Amino acid sequence: MTNKYMYFVANWKMYGNTKSVKTLKNVIKFSKFSKNKKLKIIYCPPNTLLNDFSKVFKNSKISLGAQNCFHEDGYGPYTGSISSKMLKDIGAKYVLIGHSENRKLGETDILVNKKIKTAINNNLKIILCIGESKSERRRKKTHYVLRRQIVNSLKDIKKLNNIFFAYEPIWSIGTGNILNINNLEKDIILIKNFIKKRYKSSSQIVLYGGSVNLKNINEIKKIKILNGFLIGGASQNSKKFIDIIKKSYI
Ligand code: PGA
Repeated sequence: MTNKYMYFVANWKMYGNTKSVKTLKNVIKFSKFSKNKKLKIIYCPPNTLLNDFSKVFKNSKISLGAQNCFHEDGYGPYTGSISSKMLKDIGAKYVLIGHSENRKLGETDILVNKKIKTAINNNLKIILCIGESKSERRRKKTHYVLRRQIVNSLKDIKKLNNIFFAYEPIWSIGTGNILNINNLEKDIILIKNFIKKRYKSSSQIVLYGGSVNLKNINEIKKIKILNGFLIGGASQNSKKFIDIIKKSYI
């Protein structure tokens, strides 16, 4: 896994407060002295911390990402919403879109598609989350669901160069359960092949997310075609996060 770019994305969800900023020191130091030039660390804190994180990461090798954006761009009468333009302004380079925790609240593929377009317009890199539910997997609908999510989310989008994919089986998020490695690899291959065929894009970045932790990283890292990980729970502790990164490179 060492001779290609590897992405480690920390998704802090609705966790963290102004005191959390201090914990970033270790990660900044780690990334500064890491000999691996292909290591990419991205933090997606809650919106309340974007500004603080942005300042701390200035002049570091760590990039800032947001956890979501609104489906309309620019400025407007949308109480409580934050646009891609605003994220760009605060220093974000990435944005997660289509996370299952938002889809569960009613975010449709149509909204996901609109959000992606606003992110593209603002030169943000998009981490598009896709994944099946437990019952979809049980009914052998996984591949159908993944293809549907990809096609609908990318409607009218021609260039995929700023789009990363994060495969996150919904039932795996925050549960400690992961797919058997062979099946996980099969799903990643399916995603990569589908994108290659349909969008003529052979170098698409595909991450895995869902209960990545210190116990299972040695197993998951065997999937050589993966380009990195989207990590929730285990990323909130900087030591654990660094240890996962280190283990991924051994
Ligand atoms: P988890 O979350 O690592 O806590 O399972 C991953 C995610 O939701 O992105």
